[in-house]
Amino acid sequence: MPKLFSTMTVKNLELRNRVVMPPMCTYSTDDQGRANDWHFVHYVTRAVGGVGLIIIEATGVERRGRITDTDLGLWEDGQVEGLKRIVTECQKYGAKVAIQLGHAGRKCSIPSEDLIAPSALPFDENYKTPRAMTKEDIRTVTESFRQAAFRVEQAGFDALEIHAAHGFLLSEFLSPLANRREDEYGGSHENRARFLKEVITAIRAVWPQEKPLIVRVSAEDYVSGGNHPEDLAKMINLVKSAGVDVVHVSSGAVVPAKINTYPGYQVKYAEIIKTMTGLPVIAGGLITSPFMAEEIIQNERADLVFLGRELLRNPYWPLQAAKELGQEIKWPFQYERSR
Ligand SMILES: Cc1cc2nc3c(=O)[nH]c(=O)nc-3n(C[C@H](O)[C@H](O)[C@H](O)COP(=O)(O)O)c2cc1C
Repeated sequence: MPKLFSTMTVKNLELRNRVVMPPMCTYSTDDQGRANDWHFVHYVTRAVGGVGLIIIEATGVERRGRITDTDLGLWEDGQVEGLKRIVTECQKYGAKVAIQLGHAGRKCSIPSEDLIAPSALPFDENYKTPRAMTKEDIRTVTESFRQAAFRVEQAGFDALEIHAAHGFLLSEFLSPLANRREDEYGGSHENRARFLKEVITAIRAVWPQEKPLIVRVSAEDYVSGGNHPEDLAKMINLVKSAGVDVVHVSSGAVVPAKINTYPGYQVKYAEIIKTMTGLPVIAGGLITSPFMAEEIIQNERADLVFLGRELLRNPYWPLQAAKELGQEIKWPFQYERSR
């Protein structure tokens, strides 16, 4: 009996299957960070295509928290409506919808914005040198996350993901390669995870307890002296009581590093984090085949599987995958004759 299309419940979130569309920037807003018809068509198509959980692309909690000036944002109330329209429509087709809240930190590429980071170290020679954050800056950004989370609830999202991966602000604090602070936000695992814990706590003050909170991490820095999956598991164990329900395991992009990628290259990191934290995990990376996704779920290496670029190529991947696995699933009635 295939398991990729079995349901899963986390708190009050009931997913129809284990297929996740991970957040992927589409660089399609104007400078106002508002969702438009592009985002509507893009995400609703994946809901029609049968995805279980759609996680909307990295969304800035501050203007300077955007990666580019074409990113989505949730730093003001006017940005809620466009997202709400997407959520409501996706839900009609049986998908559940989350959004990734993030802050670009030292990887903000907008020339006019102030670059902030744990320490005054640029990502590489193509980036400006950021300013090391003061404690007041940390409080300001934490409050921006809280306010954005309030808007996530107003838009009707089913789950909220914190972007603590890929060398953006929260990820910078977690990694000893980007965080050289000597105060209580740098050094030990506990100190490096402190800002993430404060952000989780602030979000949890406005994000309903019965709705899941997902944290996305880079489990491997691919450089000696950097983080490995065991480090991330330890830091998640230090913050999970603040209200983390699922860990979304990615890797890299904290510092420039060569990565040996192959189908499923990050699944082993997800397994370590699942075992060490006891939390459900989302795993993936270069997954394209239904059988590979099925293997990951059946062998309990992860609870959910993400397919990024494959879902960009083929929004109907879940419908086709179910067929290949010999599993009967509900199709949109409009497409029944093509089943
Ligand atoms: C165009 C593009 C945009 C992306 N944007 C984000 C993002 O906003 N947030 C994030 O956490 N990861 C982002 N990623 C990484 C993906 O979520 C995913 O981890 C990566 O593509 C590897 O999975 P895949 O091999 O299935 O595509 C992006 C990837 C792509 C290709």
